[in-house]
Amino acid sequence: MDKQERAKPRVVLGVSGGIAAYKACELLRRLTESGHDVRVVPTAASLNFVGEATWSALSGNPATTEVWESVHEVPHVRIGQGADLVVVAPATADMLAKAAHGIADDLLTNTLLTARCPVVFAPAMHTEMWENPATQENVATLRRRGALVIEPAVGRLTGVDTGKGRFPDPAQIFELCRRVLARGPRAATADLAGRHVVVSAGGTREPLDPVRYLGNRSSGRQGYALAATAAARGARVTLVAGNTELPDPAGVDVVRIGTAVQLREAVLAAAGDADAVVMAAAVADFRPSEYATGKIKKKDGQEPEPVTLVRNPDILAELSADRPNRGQIVVGFAAETDDVLANGRTKLARKGCDLLVVNEVGEHKTFGSAENEAVILATDGSETPVPHGPKEALADTVWDLVAGRFAATADGS
Ligand SMILES: Cc1cc2nc3c(=O)[nH]c(=O)nc-3n(C[C@H](O)[C@H](O)[C@H](O)COP(=O)(O)O)c2cc1C
Repeated sequence: MDKQERAKPRVVLGVSGGIAAYKACELLRRLTESGHDVRVVPTAASLNFVGEATWSALSGNPATTEVWESVHEVPHVRIGQGADLVVVAPATADMLAKAAHGIADDLLTNTLLTARCPVVFAPAMHTEMWENPATQENVATLRRRGALVIEPAVGRLTGVDTGKGRFPDPAQIFELCRRVLARGPRAATADLAGRHVVVSAGGTREPLDPVRYLGNRSSGRQGYALAATAAARGARVTLVAGNTELPDPAGVDVVRIGTAVQLREAVLAAAGDADAVVMAAAVADFRPSEYATGKIKKKDGQEPEPVTLVRNPDILAELSADRPNRGQIVVGFAAETDDVLANGRTKLARKGCDLLVVNEVGEHKTFGSAENEAVILATDGSETPVPHGPKEALADTVWDLVAGRFAATADGS
């Protein structure tokens, strides 16, 4: 192996015997094409779905299932020891059980016991298998030990069945792996594990008639980055998403809404048992006072009727005042066009939230962009500037501050 090869992050892709094994080929392609050195370790059962030749050819590395091959290289120890990330996708109910109980009867299960790096499981199975208390306890055990077990998606399963247990979109599992790798060894302990966080994203649309609405330019990208980074740090995430085309991040429960009133209902419903709520959505302050059930028509020789507006509920202030859990952290966003920091400080005091992410927005600024720049204001007077960079970096800084507050609450400080 030359120097350049060794510089590549080393990923072990464990494939267990679920029907979704074929979807792991796309995950493998994305990992190799983005510069990772991938060693595929399939289980014997998985070879019924995708053969060894496919894994070797796509990865450029041997793909063996048993500990008895190339014994002089001691693969049952070396593969796990040398990995920067192990991702088991798909993870069968059987594999979760073996991993939770420390069974080591093939190369993949041995690798899971020797890996010191972050470990991600992407379970896929029928709903009954997923919901079975045995599987749920195994998942809880793995999460407690620091593994990242992605919640399966809801949708079409093998045959005619639908429900929870579907393998998430491989592109989104890849994104999650990329985020975990970017966090480096810190990701070996998922610091938001066991936490439920609610994130709102996107913009609301306030209808005037069946074809028109008052909306805003929010793309949802900042909120989606917050949801995806929280999932990559082990949180259970509910994403309340308004009017965006973005794909669902892997392992995130997405609730779609249209208007500010719907957003309020969805956020309050999800916030009941949440440890943190981050309101990144661009919620309309006002809505038309009346909704025309038929399309509003032009009338010859007449000026249009003026549109009168009424206030929408202030969801951030409501959440901040009525926290269902003692210690629930509430984070707001302030999109300002001028006097950014001064307006931010006034808003933090008025809303009563713990943190306020203040950023400057405009027609060609922030909205729709993959990048952002902000200052995070806290009630203790601290200010955390986040330099211009990817929205994911801002998201990670928000979660660093939230995780710090969780830790302080746990310490009683
Ligand atoms: C057609 C077929 C599809 C299967 N799909 C799944 C699945 O999606 N998830 C799962 O947990 N088990 C599934 N199984 C059962 C596993 O293959 C079985 O539990 C096996 O022992 C898993 O071995 P492994 O965990 O070592 O790969 C399936 C079996 C068959 C025959």
